[in-house]
Amino acid sequence: TAGQMAEEFGTEAYVVGGFVRDLLLTRNNLDMDLVVEADGIAFAKKLAKKMSGRVKYHRKFKTAVVILPDGQRIDVATARLEYYEYPAALPTVELSSIKMDLYRRDFTVNALAVHINPSSFGTLVDFFGSQRDLKDKTIRVLHALSFVEDPTRIMRAIRFEQRFNFKIGGQTLSLVKNALKLNLFSKLSGYRIVHELKLIFTEAEVLGSIKRMNELGVLEAIHPLLALNTSREQVIAELERVVSWYNLLYLEPEISIWKIYFLGICMGISKPKIEQIYNRFSFSQTEKREFVHLRETIFWAAGNIMNIRGELRPSEIYKILSPVPLEGVLFIMARTTRDIVKKYISQYLTNLRLQTVDITGDDLKALGLIPGPQYTKLLYETKLACLDSIVKGKDEQFNFVKK
Ligand code: CTP
Repeated sequence: TAGQMAEEFGTEAYVVGGFVRDLLLTRNNLDMDLVVEADGIAFAKKLAKKMSGRVKYHRKFKTAVVILPDGQRIDVATARLEYYEYPAALPTVELSSIKMDLYRRDFTVNALAVHINPSSFGTLVDFFGSQRDLKDKTIRVLHALSFVEDPTRIMRAIRFEQRFNFKIGGQTLSLVKNALKLNLFSKLSGYRIVHELKLIFTEAEVLGSIKRMNELGVLEAIHPLLALNTSREQVIAELERVVSWYNLLYLEPEISIWKIYFLGICMGISKPKIEQIYNRFSFSQTEKREFVHLRETIFWAAGNIMNIRGELRPSEIYKILSPVPLEGVLFIMARTTRDIVKKYISQYLTNLRLQTVDITGDDLKALGLIPGPQYTKLLYETKLACLDSIVKGKDEQFNFVKK
């Protein structure tokens, strides 16, 4: 459809970036990026109409996104026609705008395009040796100023390197090291750093990227307190196992995996010093409060559950773990070396926390109790009694609250 539309518009349209890269690597990728050598916004609006989708756009960047009824997103960007003046008497040349568009991108592996106009549908456009680099499994920048233009590309290079099992090329690696020497990271906003970290922390394999960031000095460049040490490394390795175990269970609710790894890289940083990290990341008050709460509940619960001797009753496990957000529970699971504690946590996650009591607030009302905080307390006590099988079924629960 988009290709035919391009023809009607009298312009050229291309699929570009990650979609093409993943096509050649035979990996799934549902996000499609289009570049048109025309007004991208007008193009996107028409495309949305034809495909019964919605459209959102950014006038300033001349970009738009079409959201199809099935939820698929198609990003549409405008390739600008640019004129380059050569020094001296050489004539001004007009470079093909798709070429310029691709040249501005991060790495050769992301700088491929596929022409989608019907006349040459499916033709691969490769100006910069992208296919060779895909074959050689190399992450290579397109020009020497790439990391100066955008230092977050250093983190992207590491993420792609680890995801595809590629290697950052020799010259590109020197450029990475230079950029770090020039302290380019200090100019990056907390927001952009956190965005890139979140992307790294939601990959299937995280430890490799964290180790690589450490080896190249990226973690230290973000903040000296983040340099990796053996105990952090061990816990992060275990976090990877715990997170994939949890994901396989398909339990509700979904959790924010990135927060768990964030706890991992900050492990061992004291309460007064962690403020520096929150500030470096430009966390909002809400985000800060959330992490303070996470760390405090973990500290309290881990102290309680790791020091226990003898068997814990289900209600005792529940009492210790239920005040901790799930991200924190998984973190404790990764940090403990005791099998019994791992077992308790698994029991809590897969069973105890999901058990419900039969009686409700309405039942308490029917018993003549006045609504208020005592409802929560009574239902909590009932749940504890149910967990230990002291009461079974609705009738016994009734009798329990009456008493
Ligand atoms: N891009 C860039 N510099 C950045 C971020 C993005 O040049 N700092 C370019 C890349 O060429 C990339 C495209 O913008 O292909 C789209 O970005 P994004 O969706 O983040 O990249 P994908 O390659 O699709 O990555 P992923 O597979 O992780 O979605």
